[in-house]
Amino acid sequence: MSSGNRPIIKAIIFGVTGQDGSYLAEFLLAKGYEVHGVRRRASTFNTGRIDHLISDRKIWENKFFLHYADLEDAVAINSLILNIKPNEIYNLGAQSHVGLSFDIPMSTINVGGLGSLRILEAILRNDLSKTTKFYQASTSELFGGLKNQELDENSLMAPRSPYAVGKLMAYWLTKNYRDAYGIFAVNGILFNHESPRRGETFVTRKITRGITGIKAGILDELHLGNLDAMRDWGHAKDYVEAMWLMLQQEQPTDFVIATGQNYTVRRFVEIVCSKLGYEIQWKIEDNAEIGYDTKTGKTLVRTDAGYLRPLEVDFLLGNANRARELLGWIPKIEIDGLIEEMLENDTQLWEREKFFPNINR
Ligand code: NAP
Ligand code: GDD
Repeated sequence: MSSGNRPIIKAIIFGVTGQDGSYLAEFLLAKGYEVHGVRRRASTFNTGRIDHLISDRKIWENKFFLHYADLEDAVAINSLILNIKPNEIYNLGAQSHVGLSFDIPMSTINVGGLGSLRILEAILRNDLSKTTKFYQASTSELFGGLKNQELDENSLMAPRSPYAVGKLMAYWLTKNYRDAYGIFAVNGILFNHESPRRGETFVTRKITRGITGIKAGILDELHLGNLDAMRDWGHAKDYVEAMWLMLQQEQPTDFVIATGQNYTVRRFVEIVCSKLGYEIQWKIEDNAEIGYDTKTGKTLVRTDAGYLRPLEVDFLLGNANRARELLGWIPKIEIDGLIEEMLENDTQLWEREKFFPNINR
């Protein structure tokens, strides 16, 4: 198929309904791609992040298509890849909550680890090794974060959760299929990236949603786990561009993608509070740490041991020099811009909730 003289480039996105999948779909569609998003069956609607693409008549079922397949289902994956014969596959599908992976380790590893193998096998067995490029959503969780050090593509990997162990399997499978069969397969080792579309149980979104909810007078307190973990937080929009750049290189190479700056969860709370007009101070009370507003004495944040993980990743800080040099990639949105965008979004959601209670919970 071609559009004028230009051949149409076809991409499959596994995990299109997630945060990154939705931004990547927008990004590829803007570049003229034919985008095939893969969703899994759910008993409730799970397309909230891509509904604007589905309702766009110019692209829906013309440039943007949706297909059902679960990453646990090798048959569905195989027939999808065989039918579409895509130029690029982005594997973003995963049970991506690290804490939850301790409760549901089997399915987390089946999807996050073996899911990648099912895709790589489909590329190989359908004779697409020379024509289909593969992107694997690898993660800074691979490193384990036990030492306060900058991490790059050569740093030691020592995962500390079932989620990260599954991702380490996928990381090595991606490298192995590249070396053994010559598939253009790359790992994007992405540090944390956030946005207004971030799932509400990840800490940044939980904080922006929680504190704006308190500000709106709808929520009472925000309960959090470890306040001292450090993360290198970027914006998902910048990070999906890096995914695409990795597949446009001459040679398949793995890349770390990060901002090079990290903050504690506590600091993230403090920035959010200050942007919303609170002056937060911390104190210990009944074995919990309390963050209260010095102007009113109101408790905003309370630690809750129920949110601590069996193993913690204490310190993540990335060095993305290789991406800067080879991809020309640099993050455009800094933490202040990221937080402001998230706060604006969540403030609006609470405003709507005042008029239509519970629709967004
Ligand atoms: P996300 O919002 O949790 O999205 C995950 C996607 O995977 C969703 O579309 C989800 O579908 C889908 N999925 C889950 N289980 C599946 C299954 N069994 N079969 C098919 N699809 C399934 O995650 P994200 O933040 O966009 O991250 C994208 C990828 O990058 C993930 O693999 C994550 O592990 C990895 N990663 C993320 C970060 C980050 O900071 N965001 C950093 C490094 C790596 P539903 O919508 O139906 O749940
Ligand atoms: N989720 C959550 N909820 N985390 C909390 C809370 C809480 O109430 N309180 C403190 N934290 C701490 C966690 O213990 C962790 O140290 C840190 O906040 C960040 O947690 P998450 O936002 O859940 O993200 P993550 O770093 O564990 O994992 C995310 O980033 C990885 C890349 O480094 C996910 O997107 C993974 O899929 C991704 O691979």
